Amino acid sequence: MRILVIGSGGREHALITALAADETVDFLACAPGNPGIGALAALHPVDILDPVAVTTLATELAIELVVIGPEAPLVAGVADAVRAAGIACFGPSKAAAQLEGSKDFAKRVMVAAGVPTARAYTCSTPEQAAKALDEFGAPYVVKDDALAAGKGVVVTDDRDQALAHAAACGRVVIEEFLDGPEVSLFVVTDGNTAVPLLPAQDFKRIGEGDTGPNTGGMGAYCPLPWAPAELVPTVMEQVVYPTLRQMRVEGTPFAGLLYVGLALTSQGPKVIEFNARFGDPETEVVLALLRTPLAGVLLAAATGTLAERPPLRWRDGAAVAVVMASAGYPESSRSGDVITGADQPGVLHAGTKAIDGELVTAGGRVLVVTATGVDVPTSREAAYELVSNIHFEGAQFRTDIAAKV
Ligand code: AMP
Ligand code: GLY
Repeated sequence: MRILVIGSGGREHALITALAADETVDFLACAPGNPGIGALAALHPVDILDPVAVTTLATELAIELVVIGPEAPLVAGVADAVRAAGIACFGPSKAAAQLEGSKDFAKRVMVAAGVPTARAYTCSTPEQAAKALDEFGAPYVVKDDALAAGKGVVVTDDRDQALAHAAACGRVVIEEFLDGPEVSLFVVTDGNTAVPLLPAQDFKRIGEGDTGPNTGGMGAYCPLPWAPAELVPTVMEQVVYPTLRQMRVEGTPFAGLLYVGLALTSQGPKVIEFNARFGDPETEVVLALLRTPLAGVLLAAATGTLAERPPLRWRDGAAVAVVMASAGYPESSRSGDVITGADQPGVLHAGTKAIDGELVTAGGRVLVVTATGVDVPTSREAAYELVSNIHFEGAQFRTDIAAKV
């Protein structure tokens, strides 16, 4: 199979790593990719938000399956254009990607489908925002309605800060605070059949002990030894199947990767958010444990034949990923710092660039350092061993990823 992956982060490096190990894959390309991915796939510097450019590239390369990593091309309609050209595409349509692209749309689908989630109001004026904040009380949860690269959500006890975020965003969803551990569950679906991957946990805050501002994710581990056995079947029954059914009813069937972000509350699992693509850095740990060759699974989801596939097989043990971020992240990010020690197995590239033969930082999250082992503590130790060999000026990483497991 000839595959083109769209994106340039750690998630895409993990997808390409899994696809490169699949014997059914005989050609791999990536747009735009990064130096780590370049070791495994041909890189093409096209504008991934341009549906015509991506489709033209896929056609020129005689691609049989396009796999879209990030949300922005999905929301821009790249999957629709690729499919219209007669090429299979793993990733939802522009209309279905609104499940991630608009918090308001996602809330309406969840309410219509009876999916457990936080009560919420969509607010467009300061008066509406103030009323919603006062109804729910602190801690306040204010979410930008539109895509914001993981930075659109403010959770705070400070009412003025909550109001200021609402004013800055324009249209927001304000909702009740959900207490309890968070879980990311990825589901591969063709719109009807749905196959869950192993549940993972992400560390969203920049600082040790879950302090400081939210980031795209500073680390992850998988599986969750503490999770109740019925967690995944419960979420499939209460969340995934009703949501897929509702999306079909709305005329916007969802096929691709449904990312269910959950809080495990005292009243059971509730949805915090949906994403329309693989999460980062959870993908790095989940795919590290997947034994089933990936290409056939993604192709089946893209072509409506998932029901014909055998169950997924997984490796025993666990995986842990530690993100190394650049100076200034998440408020900003510094580029051009020289990276040494990244050439080790399990070191996935996120924001890197090669300049004059040197690997340098080029983005907020720079590397996703991933290791496996017999259990979470062993994997964690192995990941931090890799981290200890990697250096760049201003490197930030949390030392407590998966420490409490
Ligand atoms: P989101 O982009 O919706 O995933 O939100 C980012 C992060 O904000 C989540 O991972 C949670 O840590 C936090 N968050 C979002 N919504 C809520 C909520 N209703 N209650 C508590 N925390 C939340
Ligand atoms: N790790 C969170 C996300 O991918 O949105």
